[in-house]
Amino acid sequence: MTSFSDIKGFVFDLDGVITDTARFHSLAWRKVADKVGAHWTAGLAERLKGISRMESLDIILQAAGKQDAYTEDEKVALATSKNAEYLRLVDTLTPDDILPGIADLVQSLDDGGYKLAIASASKNAPRVLQNLGISQYFPNIVDPSTLKHGKPDPEIFIKAAESIGLKPEQCVGVEDAAAGVQGIKAAGEVAVGIGDADVLKQADMVFPSTAELTLSNVKAHMDKDVSAVK
Ligand code: BG6
Ligand code: MG
Repeated sequence: MTSFSDIKGFVFDLDGVITDTARFHSLAWRKVADKVGAHWTAGLAERLKGISRMESLDIILQAAGKQDAYTEDEKVALATSKNAEYLRLVDTLTPDDILPGIADLVQSLDDGGYKLAIASASKNAPRVLQNLGISQYFPNIVDPSTLKHGKPDPEIFIKAAESIGLKPEQCVGVEDAAAGVQGIKAAGEVAVGIGDADVLKQADMVFPSTAELTLSNVKAHMDKDVSAVK
């Protein structure tokens, strides 16, 4: 296990970690699910987390048994309508919508000289950060259109570490999705999960919410794990 003193950077997922846009994605996808006749469940919503826009649409079409029912153009139109609804919701975001503890964490990481990057599958990450008023902390955002593979592939987390001039082993990755935690681990970063420990069981540590995600809690977990293997 990496020791805390080796950590020089933090790689953040955006949706569901920095702000609760996971709820906006769900609201917007639910409209598409209703349109194509897919039964909306909490399990379906969970499977869409961290997954790209077009892959999410494919999962919804499969759930409806309609994977071959739409042309490529029709699929693009469905995804575009979802994104328009999502952006309408995103543009209601203000700095008050930053999840608990995240603003303080980001400030303390910045003060401590840690490098920060965003590893989000979302093409809307710059707009979300802008609306939250924290863009200045995140000059390094991986452009998801440059990726060959989405999460759970480690590519986005490896690129995020590269973007801040670090090796993956020098980074902590923070995720709310199982696919993201899997990608962080495959990249060789320390994985912090936010949410349900049963869903995020591959993570090195899981906090029930961002309120518990502090630098000292991360350090305490890593020091405990290091001393446990000594
Ligand atoms: C991820 C979300 O961050 O971004 C997914 O967890 C979403 O739910 C994906 O589908 C792509 O986002 P966008 O904004 O490019 O459609
Ligand atoms: Mg997420």
